[in-house]
Amino acid sequence: MSIKLEKMSEFFTARVNDYDEHMINNVEGCKEGYIKMAEFVPCNCITLLDLGCGTGLELEEIFKKYPDIQVTGIDLTKSMLDKLKEKYYDKDITLINASYLEYNLGFEKYDAAVSFQTMHHFKHEDKLKLYKNIYNSLKPGGVYIECDYMVIDQKDEDFYFNEMERLRREQNLNDNEFYHYDTPCTVDNQIKLFKKSA
Ligand SMILES: C[S@@+](CC[C@H](N)C(=O)[O-])C[C@H]1O[C@@H](n2cnc3c(N)ncnc32)[C@H](O)[C@@H]1O
Repeated sequence: MSIKLEKMSEFFTARVNDYDEHMINNVEGCKEGYIKMAEFVPCNCITLLDLGCGTGLELEEIFKKYPDIQVTGIDLTKSMLDKLKEKYYDKDITLINASYLEYNLGFEKYDAAVSFQTMHHFKHEDKLKLYKNIYNSLKPGGVYIECDYMVIDQKDEDFYFNEMERLRREQNLNDNEFYHYDTPCTVDNQIKLFKKSA
């Protein structure tokens, strides 16, 4: 089977209008995941970094708990950020339209960082660099909460990474451009990456 890969931000821009409804009603575990993620945000959290914030679905539950929290959201797709801005016009939010893989997230700025369903697109080496960047951006004692989907077996992880390479080669795609293709990692590999980054 051959899928035509779409550039990451074009993929989300093309789906932005139905995005929230799709995530809440069609993606298994999302609705519960947003609620669970908000539960993990510590009560002393004043500054929060949201990586791949999209339209800010995870923020809805977090704002219910902490209406005055100061949020910095970073996302590659401008149309998703525009929607977020519309929804939370009265909240303390700074938005950055950039790739978190390239952006310097700063030093000891945030009490907590979150990411919801955005990290399943990248290679281990890119994730490790990013996790180090996130780690440095957290204040001492800060926490990083990631909610994403993962695979059980290494062979499944290998399948998706190999398939992505195959599709990129077949479609002659530029190495420096992000394309939307899911490459979930195993839970074990995720834990190893987190441990290596600190
Ligand atoms: C499935 S959406 C999740 C959005 C939101 N967190 C949610 O749960 O609804 C993935 C988001 O990650 C963003 N994204 C993907 N790669 C990115 C990158 N390298 N830097 C910043 N954002 C990225 C996409 O633009 C998209 O908005």
